[in-house]
Formats: sequence, C-alpha cells, structure tokens
Amino acid sequence: YRFQRGEKLVRINLLTVLKSGTFDGARAAVLDEALGHLVTGTTIGAELPAGDCPPRRWRTVSGATVGPVHFRTLDQLQAKGKRVLLRADLNVPRRDGEITDLTRLEKLCPTIRELSGKGARIIICSHFGRPKGEVVPELSLEPVAHALGDLLGQKVRFARSCVGPDAEQAVKLLADGEILVLENTRFDPREERNDPGMAHELAALADVYVDDAFSAAHRAHASTEGVAKLLPAYAGRLMQAELEALEAVLGHPKRPLAAIIGGSKVSTKLGMLGNLIGHVNVLVMGGV
Ligand code: 3PG
Repeated sequence: YRFQRGEKLVRINLLTVLKSGTFDGARAAVLDEALGHLVTGTTIGAELPAGDCPPRRWRTVSGATVGPVHFRTLDQLQAKGKRVLLRADLNVPRRDGEITDLTRLEKLCPTIRELSGKGARIIICSHFGRPKGEVVPELSLEPVAHALGDLLGQKVRFARSCVGPDAEQAVKLLADGEILVLENTRFDPREERNDPGMAHELAALADVYVDDAFSAAHRAHASTEGVAKLLPAYAGRLMQAELEALEAVLGHPKRPLAAIIGGSKVSTKLGMLGNLIGHVNVLVMGGV
C-alpha cells in the first residue's frame, strides 16, 4: 500500500483506535514513537524499528486496512549502484525441456524492472526442480534466464555456478541496472542443509538481499533463510503483494471466510493447511 500525500491515517491496534494524524508529505514525520520513520515524497513507506515489534495496522479514512508494516520493501531501498541478491522462484513448469507456463517469470518482472530502473546490479538466485545437490544439466537455469530476458526485453547474463569464482567474476562484470542469473542453487548440496558457509558465500556476492520468492519462503535453505540473516533484507514487490494479501484476508477478514486451495505437492503444505483451518470458516480443496 502506498500512502498518499496528505492522507489521513488512523492507527489501529487490536481494533482500538489509539492515535490519528494527517501525513504531510513535505516533511519527515513521526506519527508515533514506535514508527521508525516515514519516507517523505508524494508516496511514502513506513518502517518500524528493528526488533520485536508488535503487529500494528493502519487504515485510511476510506477504510482500507494497511499493514502490519514490520517488513522493509523496495520503498526503503536506496538501490543505485548496489549489488542486490534477488531470491526469486524460477522453478517454472516444464515438459520435454520446454517451459510450459511463464506466469512465475511474468510476476517477477515488476521487481526486476524497478530495481534495474533504480540502477541496482541485480543478481538473481533460485532453485529449479529437485536435483538433490547434484549437477543435473536438464535442471540448469540457463534456458530460464533466456526466457526471463525475452520477457524483460533486456539482456540477462548467466553464471555457471551460484557461488565461487564463476559467480564472483560474473558479478564483477555487472554494471548498474544489469541483470545476472546464477545457476541452480540446489546443484550445491549445502543449499537444502541451510549450510552457513554457502549462505556466507552468497552474501559475499551482494550488498543487500531482496526476497521475492514467496512460493519458496517455507523452505529454510541457504538462499532463503540463511542469507536473509547476513545482509540487509527487503521484500520484493511480489513478496510484498503476497504478504499484504494474506494480511487482508487473515488480519481482519469479513466473515464467513472461505479458502479455496489448489496446486501440486500438497503433502509438503500440510502444516500451512493445518494453520489455515484455524482461521477460516470453510476450506475447499481441489486439483491437488
Ligand atoms: C514450488 O514450486 O512449490 C516452489 O518452487 C518450491 O519448490 P520445492 O517444493 O521443490 O521446494
């Protein structure tokens, strides 16, 4: 959600209205001691101080619910000239070596375009399939990198490893606004073990970490959970949209609330489904 200049904000915490104020975009403003800062401009982002902040919500006078705002987004990232490690989910469906659905790549493009437009050096990492720590040529991300370049209409470079000399050299060659895709993180057996050594090697490639892989965020792997602790971490636009959508339906839903769940590999999502049952009135599953 982007706050508009002059928009009236009402802070709500546990449905109790505690404080209200009007934001003047022309100056920095702190509406509340718990709110770290508001970034000025025609649109602003809100950031809570680091640490264990209780969830807080904001709503506009028109009633839209906003927040909680305890994760950083691209609004807070000064990206110019920075090496940004972007964790994406490039795990696209394929048949006989051909990509059969580009949706995941299309959804990722806004984050990449925004970072590139701001002059970041974008280093994309992702898993692809389940090669189990072996180099499986059919699961190379190289064709996916080409497909991404076609969608973006921009050159996308490719590195033949996700860490080590190949990756380091490829990162050195990046200019502001350029894009690099690293080879499948799961070719390295340390990825799924969430090995700290691999997380440190990934972190050494970049200045900041942006996570746009909501669909892989349930995995505590070196390129997700491990590296996020080592670099200043931000949510990409796709991750942000997913978190805000979840907040909208699970934070203050209109009831009765129904969830319709589909998709493959449901056996790995049973924990999430168990959690969801406690929040919804009706759970419908199909096509699983
Ligand atoms: C997915 O396609 O569900 C994600 O990319 C996660 O893949 P995984 O189930 O192999 O971890």
